[in-house]
Amino acid sequence: MPATVVVGTQWGDEGKGKLTDLLAREMEMVIRYQGGHNAGHTLVVDGETFALQLVPSGILYPHITPVIGNGVVVDPTVLLKEVDALEASGVNTSKLKVSGNAHLIMPYHHELDQLAERRLGKNKLGTTKRGIGPAYADKSSRVGLRVQDLLDAKIFRQKLEVVLKEKNQILAKVYNRLPLDMEDICARYLDDLAPRIAPMVADTVGMVHEALENGSNVLLEGAQATFLDLDHGTYPFVTSSNPVAGGACTGAGIGPRYLDRVIGIAKAYVTRVGSGPFPTELTDEIGDALVDIGHEYGTNSGRRRRPGWFDAVMMRQAVRLNSLSEVAITKLDVLDTFDKVKVCVAYEANGERFTHPPYHQSVLHQVTPIYEELPGWQTDLSECRSVDDLPVAAREYIGFLAEQIGVPVRLVGVGPGRDQFVTFAS
Ligand code: GDP
Ligand code: IMO
Ligand code: MG
Repeated sequence: MPATVVVGTQWGDEGKGKLTDLLAREMEMVIRYQGGHNAGHTLVVDGETFALQLVPSGILYPHITPVIGNGVVVDPTVLLKEVDALEASGVNTSKLKVSGNAHLIMPYHHELDQLAERRLGKNKLGTTKRGIGPAYADKSSRVGLRVQDLLDAKIFRQKLEVVLKEKNQILAKVYNRLPLDMEDICARYLDDLAPRIAPMVADTVGMVHEALENGSNVLLEGAQATFLDLDHGTYPFVTSSNPVAGGACTGAGIGPRYLDRVIGIAKAYVTRVGSGPFPTELTDEIGDALVDIGHEYGTNSGRRRRPGWFDAVMMRQAVRLNSLSEVAITKLDVLDTFDKVKVCVAYEANGERFTHPPYHQSVLHQVTPIYEELPGWQTDLSECRSVDDLPVAAREYIGFLAEQIGVPVRLVGVGPGRDQFVTFAS
């Protein structure tokens, strides 16, 4: 009955999609537990690329039951588009289930996210503008509409009428925008979308528990990452949910005693999209090389990701926040051509040395990273499939990371393909 969590340990895009797909071979169920279509999870299988936003990354296997948990915010238009695209590529999506308790992203969430960002100007958060924050805000304010409301037109209309009045006031009076029409929204959500979403709606909590009680392996797929977490990330430059492993429990409806493995996933360097502090950020030609070689542009948004060296200080905090049992390091191959690679082992600020992030964020904004420099391997790793295939310098780099993190590295990615990884013995 073990449940495994895959959690991002940096600022997102660590390769959670690829790892989930890889682990799904030995699973029966894969559950997305938070976030929405702000996520972009890429799978590369036999040369074909799938960029998933809402659908769990186990979807490609016929034996997997993919589940969108109660902690996710669902834009039904996006979900159906994604399902249609997968079907067009020959993927059977008929087993996909969505929690009736998941909240809906509504047209005003989308619009308010964009308007709020525009209003913030140079202070913007750099959100994905997909309505994620406003949808979670309504969930907390207890005025959200849920997936199950699509199944009851009367309730849907009653709730929408109340909330839309307020949203239209905000749109008109704060942003000088035209109001949204109740009937337009009902026509789209109740007439067009609901009939197709209805067969997917399920008691996902019941399903997960039945699976666990039957001894099935369940994988909980995180979106975003530890330092985009609403509570533990670099607030306010965060997302509006809890990507940390604890969020897997609330977002899927299971207690913590079911969590058996918590796999933290990190790139061999770091990237971040959007605004916010980033101690090891590289704004020089080395950073440009990481972006070029690593194709560091948003999976769905196309935005350039900010690059930096591996940060063991943040990683040690991720170990604590998630109770990581092991780590997967991805994109080691991106460092193949570098003659030297650096790892941040501590920070310094105001004459003080930090091995974990300073609790006061103003200090985090000012820290100077202290680096250890290691020799590069200057060898193409893309064909390596075992530890013995890796050059000594690459093995030493991974060994150094493991020592700095304090948790074993079990898997190393050497390319985007499903088979491009090396497993380290336990
Ligand atoms: P996610 O959001 O955590 O699922 O990550 P993304 O899919 O947004 O970004 C990771 C990118 O790196 C994708 O384009 C993957 O195909 C790619 N990728 C994953 N693992 C590796 C790896 O080990 N090496 C290389 N070169 N690319 C990888
Ligand atoms: P995956 O799952 C990287 C970032 C946005 C922004 C902040 C808030 O692919 O790793 P939001 O739209 O969530 O309110 O934006 O969070 N962000 C991500 N960055 N990967 C993601 O997802 C992200 N999802 C949100 O860029 O800085
Ligand atoms: Mg991504």
